[in-house]
Amino acid sequence: MIFTVLTLFSEMISALLTGGIVKRAIEYQYISVESINIRDFAKDRHRTVDDRPYGGGCGMVMKPEPVAEAIRHARKKHPEAYTLLLTPQGQLFNQGLAQKLADQPGLILVCGRYEGIDERILEHLVDDELSIGDYVLTGGELAAMVVIDAVTRLIPGTLGGEYSAEEDSFSTGLLEYPHYTRPRSFEGAEVPEVLLSGNHAAIKEWRRQASVVRTLLKRPDLLMDKHLSSDDIRFMTKLQKDLKTIMGNHSTAS
Ligand code: ADE
Repeated sequence: MIFTVLTLFSEMISALLTGGIVKRAIEYQYISVESINIRDFAKDRHRTVDDRPYGGGCGMVMKPEPVAEAIRHARKKHPEAYTLLLTPQGQLFNQGLAQKLADQPGLILVCGRYEGIDERILEHLVDDELSIGDYVLTGGELAAMVVIDAVTRLIPGTLGGEYSAEEDSFSTGLLEYPHYTRPRSFEGAEVPEVLLSGNHAAIKEWRRQASVVRTLLKRPDLLMDKHLSSDDIRFMTKLQKDLKTIMGNHSTAS
């Protein structure tokens, strides 16, 4: 996967490449990340990349010419790549989208600054717009880094043999089960007994049920569109029954 980031702040992108899984993915050539400075495509003496908005108003707008030149330059180098503009107005990024992007041969990530980019860039030069959440950042760089990080770890091999993205939260449509490591007892809190049992079937069942309970408590919205297995439904029906019994006991007690 070739990531090409078009930005006015290449040094921000460099920070992502200095450690962890992304650094290793570059070393093992699963990915490459190149930053292109949009300012290098400005034509005037002052290398101007922004201007006042037509119609008035506060803030500055990124001029279309340097951005268009930078995108064309990147596309010429990587004609197969999918071009995304990072903007709070874009489609909301999620794990499903990360998976789809991981199947692309390359991504060109265009980072806006100031009040935004001239609208004509969106109309003609990008394939899609992407937002990482309903809040406004000072620019698209952090969003591009989020996309690079989330997509990289989905490229087979990047997590190394000891990890797997298959059981990640969201990949299964559920939140991930809780994790424990040594010590067995930490400040009075014990590791669940089943995880020490060596019974792989029981551990698998416990983890699945813990995922269901966590999702139910923390993100019930995820369960709305989720296809649940018959085991999950049996487990949830039992939960519902147990809850009813508990609530029934309380109402008779009061
Ligand atoms: N640029 C500014 N805010 C952003 C957001 N929430 N997502 C993507 N790009 C952005």
